[in-house]
Amino acid sequence: MNTTKVHRTYGSHNRRNTKSTLASPSSPPSALASSPPPTPPPARPTKRTISQISSTENSSHLFSPRKRLKSTAKSPATAKPKLSKALSKAKATTSKGGQQKTLTQLHFNIDQPILRTCSLCGLSYTKGAPDDEALHRVHCTRVRQGMEWGREEEKDRMRGTENVVVEVGTDVRLKGKRKGRIISFPADIGGKLGAKLTTLLQTVNLSLSAPDLPPSALQHSKVYIFLIPHETKAHRERIAGCVVAQRISTAMAVIPSSPSTDVQDSNPERPPAVILDAETNLCCSPEPLPTPMGISRLFVSSSHRRLGIAHSLLDAASTTFIHGCPLDPTKGQVAFSQPTGMGQAVMNSWGKGGVRVYEE
Ligand SMILES: CC(C)(COP(=O)(O)OP(=O)(O)OC[C@H]1O[C@@H](n2cnc3c(N)ncnc32)[C@H](O)[C@@H]1OP(=O)(O)O)[C@@H](O)C(=O)NCCC(=O)NCCS
Ligand SMILES: [Zn+2]
Repeated sequence: MNTTKVHRTYGSHNRRNTKSTLASPSSPPSALASSPPPTPPPARPTKRTISQISSTENSSHLFSPRKRLKSTAKSPATAKPKLSKALSKAKATTSKGGQQKTLTQLHFNIDQPILRTCSLCGLSYTKGAPDDEALHRVHCTRVRQGMEWGREEEKDRMRGTENVVVEVGTDVRLKGKRKGRIISFPADIGGKLGAKLTTLLQTVNLSLSAPDLPPSALQHSKVYIFLIPHETKAHRERIAGCVVAQRISTAMAVIPSSPSTDVQDSNPERPPAVILDAETNLCCSPEPLPTPMGISRLFVSSSHRRLGIAHSLLDAASTTFIHGCPLDPTKGQVAFSQPTGMGQAVMNSWGKGGVRVYEE
């Protein structure tokens, strides 16, 4: 009787553990992947602390905070991850006359990376891993269109006798004749609204590669969200953008030009300027200056950008953050934490060079 032996030629492949929280898909690429990703992620703002950057970057910078844009380099076509059928050839020694037939099994070279980086939301995830793909889909929709919002979510607005959800902007006009409204509430609100906020901040933090804001920071922060009518559902809205404004004590003034020698040479007593972002030439004076409000998070969903939403949110925050005391960004009363390249563009256009920088 003929017998067939099968020689197994493939090795086992480490499977990644996919996790079930939105904040933990494959971005940044998992160290458990069997091969490094073939591409650097696409342009995506990232936020690191000033101390993190100072410990890893050019020591000539005193420190350099930032949510930083990552490289936009595209992968060479050849480096595209693919599940390739890579066995040299299928060998089969056909038996004749009842001789033993030896087969060599085809194997898949799955050592090729299967991480994908979405060009729309910048997230890296494992193609083919259902959990990862599902997490990516949800995140991508939120980043592009914004999370949904129902007015019923605001019913949870009373804390004892105090109404903590305030509409600070009604019929706010945007470019293109669109309109929206801005509401504000404490960042440590809790309850249903708190759960919604947690999801929103997870999405924002994942997009910015920023850490969670600690409870101590949330206790001293207010959230401002920009709501626009839902495109199809009546009585529902979308969160098109958000700002987290935080009570701070000091921040550093931005120096308009590069850390020029004249800054140091003209006054040798003065501490050297701090390079915050060598790519964008963002520098500041290290002297801590009293500053009442910091912007720790700023995010607008990608399909609603360049309509003026960030400006409107920042206006709302600066005028209402401290009751009865509107703040003037052009006079250094507002600071951004580790701004991304896009954040710096907004800082400059909104604060006309007066917005400061602080470490959260
Ligand atoms: C940065 C961000 C919040 C801006 O939101 P936005 O609603 O598009 O900003 P606005 O429409 O209010 O822009 C106001 C002005 O800022 C400047 N600006 C905003 N985004 C810019 C960009 N990508 N490139 C250059 N300038 C930009 C422009 O001067 C703009 O005015 P204009 O559109 O008339 O030219 C948004 O692009 C975003 O969420 N990016 C990803 C997250 C991020 O980097 N956040 C910043 C953290 S510090
Ligand atoms: Zn995506």
